[in-house]
Amino acid sequence: RIINAILSGGFGTRLWPLSTPEKPKQFLQLFNRKSLFQHTVLRNSNLVDATMIITNEGHITQAEGQMGELGKEFGHVILEPVARNTAPAIALAALAVDENDILFVTPSDHMIGMFEYERGVERSLQLAKEGYLVTFGIKPKYPETGFGYIEFEGEKVKSFREKPDVVTAQEFLKKGNFYWNSGMFCFKAGVFLEELKKLSPEIYQKSEEAHEAGITKETMAAIPEDSVDYAVFERSDKIRTVAADFEWTDLGNYDALVDYFKNHDEIGPVKEVEGVGNSNTHVLTKKRVLGIGLEDLNVIETNDTILVLQKGNAQKVKELYKQFK
Ligand code: GDD
Ligand code: MG
Repeated sequence: RIINAILSGGFGTRLWPLSTPEKPKQFLQLFNRKSLFQHTVLRNSNLVDATMIITNEGHITQAEGQMGELGKEFGHVILEPVARNTAPAIALAALAVDENDILFVTPSDHMIGMFEYERGVERSLQLAKEGYLVTFGIKPKYPETGFGYIEFEGEKVKSFREKPDVVTAQEFLKKGNFYWNSGMFCFKAGVFLEELKKLSPEIYQKSEEAHEAGITKETMAAIPEDSVDYAVFERSDKIRTVAADFEWTDLGNYDALVDYFKNHDEIGPVKEVEGVGNSNTHVLTKKRVLGIGLEDLNVIETNDTILVLQKGNAQKVKELYKQFK
């Protein structure tokens, strides 16, 4: 069986106050009245046998409600009382299915174009059946430090480097044989667990204990926190990569979100500010916004807050969240 395991444990603090701990970004229905989570389900449901969600206890009602709107149901649900990042989340997913089942792991905060998508996924399934851990490589556009980088030779992977500093990222771009890691993965559950056991034995062992004893606050908190990129992909020699020829956008911050809507005005509610002498200023609100002499700003309106931020500062919203939440 092929199972789409949707990772939905993030809180999306860089999109606060649009995204809140109660209703994180993946459930906001801003994209043609659907959420990123719903788009993820729809994109994949025809390619797999079942949909699994791995999410925080507090979000499952929303997730199930949004599945219901699509007329679909989860085949598997894994609820985390506490978040331990993606390595434990994926380990628990792999432990919950048969070792020969294929997990197609996808985040829930991306927008992806369907053109060439199926072909890429089909190829990844093929490689997963052959026993590889498969990544999807995106042609990098700029030296982003928030992504993983895949050094490739065809479908072979020479190295994987998570979140390099900007100088290293620039070198990677110059060299040319590096992709961004898309954050989607495909593998046999058993192959993943074997690699995890070998490369991050404590995560493996504590995840297995949690799986056996039941996932509770205690058993979950005992699992070391780490992302799958560091815990497995930086260390494994069983990795392959499929060149992703499809359009891929990580909507992790306001710059990315506004840019995406700018380029897809059929999908989202971003407009250029109206007024006199403004340049490159965008508003995400239902109200009319007038401005004079505004430059390089994004304006975001929620029920009770208006956020005005200079473009290029989107990463700093995390600090704003900490101070004003
Ligand atoms: N269930 C669960 N539990 N899901 C989680 C948890 C958790 O503890 N932590 C994160 N997630 C989910 C997020 O909601 C998101 O959908 C996905 O897992 C990836 O987590 P991020 O926190 O967004 O990772 P990242 O963006 O820093 O890096 C990953 O994605 C990049 C591309 O977007 C890495 O795989 C990078 O290598 C990659 O380039
Ligand atoms: Mg992300």
